[in-house]
Amino acid sequence: MLQGAANKEVSMDEIVALAKRRGFIFQSSEIYGGIGGFYDYGPTGAVLKRNVKEAWWRENVELRDDVVAFDSTIVMHPLTWKASGHIDAFHDRMVDCKVCKHRFRYDQLASLEQCPDCGSKNSFTEPRNFNLMLKTFVGPAEDSASMTYLRPETAQGIFVNFKNVYQTARKKPPFGIAQIGKSFRNEITPGNFTFRLREFEQAELEYFVPDDGNDLACFQEWVERRKEWYAAYGIKPDRLRFYELSDQERPHYAKAGIDVEYLFPWGWGELESIAHRGTYDLDAHMRLSGKDLRFYDEAAKTHYTPLLIESSAGMDRTALTFLIDAFDRDTAEDPNGKPTERVVLRFHPKIAPVQAAVFSLARNKPELVSLARSIERRLRPDFRTQYDEGNIGQLYRRQDEIGTPFCLTVDYETLDDAKVTVRQRDSMRQERVAVDRLEKHLRERIG
Ligand code: GAP
Repeated sequence: MLQGAANKEVSMDEIVALAKRRGFIFQSSEIYGGIGGFYDYGPTGAVLKRNVKEAWWRENVELRDDVVAFDSTIVMHPLTWKASGHIDAFHDRMVDCKVCKHRFRYDQLASLEQCPDCGSKNSFTEPRNFNLMLKTFVGPAEDSASMTYLRPETAQGIFVNFKNVYQTARKKPPFGIAQIGKSFRNEITPGNFTFRLREFEQAELEYFVPDDGNDLACFQEWVERRKEWYAAYGIKPDRLRFYELSDQERPHYAKAGIDVEYLFPWGWGELESIAHRGTYDLDAHMRLSGKDLRFYDEAAKTHYTPLLIESSAGMDRTALTFLIDAFDRDTAEDPNGKPTERVVLRFHPKIAPVQAAVFSLARNKPELVSLARSIERRLRPDFRTQYDEGNIGQLYRRQDEIGTPFCLTVDYETLDDAKVTVRQRDSMRQERVAVDRLEKHLRERIG
């Protein structure tokens, strides 16, 4: 059971080791010593993250007729960030240790007396503001006129295009605009593996509603939808909380705010923020650009600025959450029937990188290999599959550790009875299933 305010069932060391061992996540530019706050997704991790994004996109865009898709650029006109407030106010306070030169976030220091790294006393500089946006230059000249930023959130691309989108999509509030894309923040202290990154992906949904008194109900509806989403993909409910921000914790213009938090091995951490942002963002862009972004209501022949309900989820944090939440250990039998501990990722089948692995029991028997390969090829268009061969104990162990819900083994009996052994990841139960019924068998269990 969970103890204290942290998930003690798995350590981050175990997660990081598994992520490396099984090809989920690698340190970026590892051969050069890595670069803080940047990570690459390996063959299993890239599929895991893609599945998480697709699950978000499916529920929030494809299955709704009131949400449209969007894809804006990472580099935008620098005035975007003036209007949004990021140039003037997107800061963390930092201090440097004058002795070891280490830099810390002011709000994360337990004490201002002693440097936690080198132990020096009273060695900190005065706190200074540090803007979290990453700068870049557009064009050949590297001067202030050509400087801009890598976006720190995807949302602003949606706000500046609000009029283009509602006019071309022929939508009227209430309706939403969704996008998934990369964002960049020059975090002072990246850490906790892929939790706090400098390059990460966000899935943002900007839902515009009329100011007709239903906005708070609509905010609550989005909170419920997001609760249902996490539950539908199997995140353990006792490790998830919807933390309501107090008046002091919310920006002055926000009427309501909820942080979705997961209980990580180090404590509660934010996965997503859901915020009622009023007309703040559209107003800010209208003021600075001088352009009218209000919605024109044909029926009432009036212009108005819609209110905004935003749900903004980090896809790297959500993928990490699925990895941690799925992690489990139990006892399996080795090929000699001896009990042995196994690590297993109990992913939801829609999230699992591989859904069905197909094995040939022997490597050197062409008739088994070619049958197993042909089964895997046949299943490939409908499921995420993988072919492998060799020692069955090692094959199961590998697939358990990447969270594959079904393993199908072609053995000598298959040549006689045209059935394969289907082994279920969680129960480890095995059953013989006719080769020509495999699609149906898997479809019923994977969905
Ligand atoms: N447009 C609203 C917005 O960006 P936010 O709370 O700053 O709100 C939303 O970010 C989500 O983006 C966070 O809940 C988190 O999941 C993700 N996120 C933010 N900074 C991150 C970072 N440095 N590394 C990984 N994910 C991050």
